[in-house]
Amino acid sequence: MEKKVIIDCDPGIDDSLALMLALRSPEIRVAGITVVAGNSPVEMGVGNARKVLSFMHRLDVPVIAGESRPLAREYVNALDTHGADGLGESFLPEIPGDPAPGLHGVTAVDFLEENLLHGGCSLIALGPMTNLARLAEKNPAALAAAEEIVSMGGNFRSYGNCSPVAEYNYWEDPDAARLVYHTMGSLGRKIRMVGLDVTRKIVLTPTLLEYMNRLNPEVGGFVRKITRFYFDFHWIQERLIGCVINDPLAVAAFLDPALLSGFDAFTDVEVQGISMGQTVVDAMKFWRKPANSTVYTEADVPAFWKMFLSRLTGVPEEEIDFPERRF
Ligand code: BDR
Ligand code: CA
Repeated sequence: MEKKVIIDCDPGIDDSLALMLALRSPEIRVAGITVVAGNSPVEMGVGNARKVLSFMHRLDVPVIAGESRPLAREYVNALDTHGADGLGESFLPEIPGDPAPGLHGVTAVDFLEENLLHGGCSLIALGPMTNLARLAEKNPAALAAAEEIVSMGGNFRSYGNCSPVAEYNYWEDPDAARLVYHTMGSLGRKIRMVGLDVTRKIVLTPTLLEYMNRLNPEVGGFVRKITRFYFDFHWIQERLIGCVINDPLAVAAFLDPALLSGFDAFTDVEVQGISMGQTVVDAMKFWRKPANSTVYTEADVPAFWKMFLSRLTGVPEEEIDFPERRF
């Protein structure tokens, strides 16, 4: 049966790839995209989501602007990582038109509340958790009514990507992440945490990009356009030939939970000091608190690529030749 989902995101290069994967997945119906300030300022994020929807011929999906700054901190964008336009300096033309027809006056929080409250709707969170936190403040039961919440964020054993210990999404708005984890825990629910331990394994290499291009030049060309800047960034920062694409793994985890494995634990988020944004995962149950998260530590990388390449290019999985030599 088709699963209904809202994608909360900050596009963002890897968010855009995640949107493409979701939109090409027949098992899910994207009921809407809510945007939060993160990689790009919120209005730029809305524009970028629309550029992706336009490329995918899915401008029917509503895009709703959410929070423009974190709960309690100054907003810091990540345009150094995602390019001046938030989409790898592809400078694709803006898409004219109303991003959310029929939803005037409806905020992202209202949209989330309305859809989640009545059940049967899941949430894939790919950016800072500010929109979700505002919902937790307004109507915690609505947040907890989500069928599933899969979040790209945090880290358990892996090092951080914007401080020695913190992952960007939770670092950007640690208060929001903390509130969401606490709210879910207090209502007996768990967040599926797709953190850097697993997303770091998802490296789009030049070979994989070229392979995608051979399979489907239109899609490969689009992906090339929006990732070029990201490739350069990874080379300059990490001397990595390729780019880590975090967010599509969260969508893949939603589509096929068997792709990832991990354990259940209580997770908290540090909100201040040099560890700000760090996820503190109580793997050894020191706190004796019921688990509020499933923390993933392993990913089936070849299976992810088969899914991702097949769905984006339209080539059936069995025809995707994915020996390890393509790494
Ligand atoms: C996360 O931060 C953003 O830069 C990416 O879009 C991803 O959601 C990775 O830490
Ligand atoms: Ca993101």
